[in-house]
Amino acid sequence: MRGEGAVRSVLAGVGGYLPPAVVTNDDLAARLDTSDAWIVERTGIRERRIAAEGVLASDLGAEAARAALADAGLGPEAVDGIVLATSTPDQTYPATAVRIQAKLGIRRGFAFDVAAVCTGFIYALAVADAMIRTGHGSTVLVVGAEVNSRILDWTDRATCVLFGDGAGAVVLRAGEAGPGGSGPGLLSTHLHADGSYADLLYVDGGPGVSGTSGHVRMNGREVFRHAVAKLSAVVDEALAANGLDHAAVDWLVPHQANLRIIEAVAKKLRLPMERVVVTVDRHANTSGASIPLALAEAKADGRLKPGQLVLMEAIGGGLTWGAALLRL
Ligand code: UT7
Repeated sequence: MRGEGAVRSVLAGVGGYLPPAVVTNDDLAARLDTSDAWIVERTGIRERRIAAEGVLASDLGAEAARAALADAGLGPEAVDGIVLATSTPDQTYPATAVRIQAKLGIRRGFAFDVAAVCTGFIYALAVADAMIRTGHGSTVLVVGAEVNSRILDWTDRATCVLFGDGAGAVVLRAGEAGPGGSGPGLLSTHLHADGSYADLLYVDGGPGVSGTSGHVRMNGREVFRHAVAKLSAVVDEALAANGLDHAAVDWLVPHQANLRIIEAVAKKLRLPMERVVVTVDRHANTSGASIPLALAEAKADGRLKPGQLVLMEAIGGGLTWGAALLRL
């Protein structure tokens, strides 16, 4: 736990952006051997958004960042740095974060990408928090932006039905912990990786292995098994690190990959589904963008209130997994 007077990263604003085109399960069933019933039963997904040709992760990310800055009541001149979670960058380099920076008209501070696939936003949050607490800046944009549609094999029904495009962003600002560690801010972040599982979920291309961008490949059943076990363990780790009980959690804001995984973790936490933010039915899996998109939705509809405790968790390719506890 971070004590009284310590610098803390406080959530100042949240925003999301989804490309307008909706693709339903029936749309996919019209061109693939799948069905709405199979997809809904196995995943809870009903539809996803797909970016138009030529629209890049930086376009989606810049929109989400603008919305988060507006929510925080800040202009781009306040931003000291950008940390972007993405696995679908505009180009191999420069970092897509600098494209977002340029689109926002910012010409100072730091900007870089974090590649931790579906755990990317938790990793980016941890990195931004560390940058703030070590004095690299006091206002940092943390963005998750993905155009998963560009790396899907649209003939592989086992993967292409699962993902969508979108972006979310938060503004973190330096604040100070109150007496006994009270007050708003990120309480802790918990990051894990085990590369021995790298081949369970990967993209079969890239400048090193093929010179092409490649396609998503996944052993879904194995990833599912790891997801429930590792997410259950990491949420316990986050609560224990702060001396908190499951009952203290107001909102679980999980990575949105599969409703069955989300329900299993909620059950482990003894949290009713009314206290879980779910967007997977409408967004599908937007990888690094799913948690900030869910936060943006819950903030916009008034569910998130000052003083509440938010538990975030994610798992993805790597395998990477992690959790973060945030007091609003
Ligand atoms: O962001 C983190 C990364 N990803 C995840 O968290 C995903 C984790 N895994 C999952 O969510 C689930 O494993 C899936 C939803 C991907 C798959 O569900 P499952 O219950 O594990 O199904 P399965 O892969 O064991 O496949 C069952 C059957 C197979 O047919 P047979 O071999 O039993 O005849 C598949 O070929 O379902 C078939 N199948 C499909 N059928 C209709 C696979 N995809 C489809 C499909 N439509 N889209």
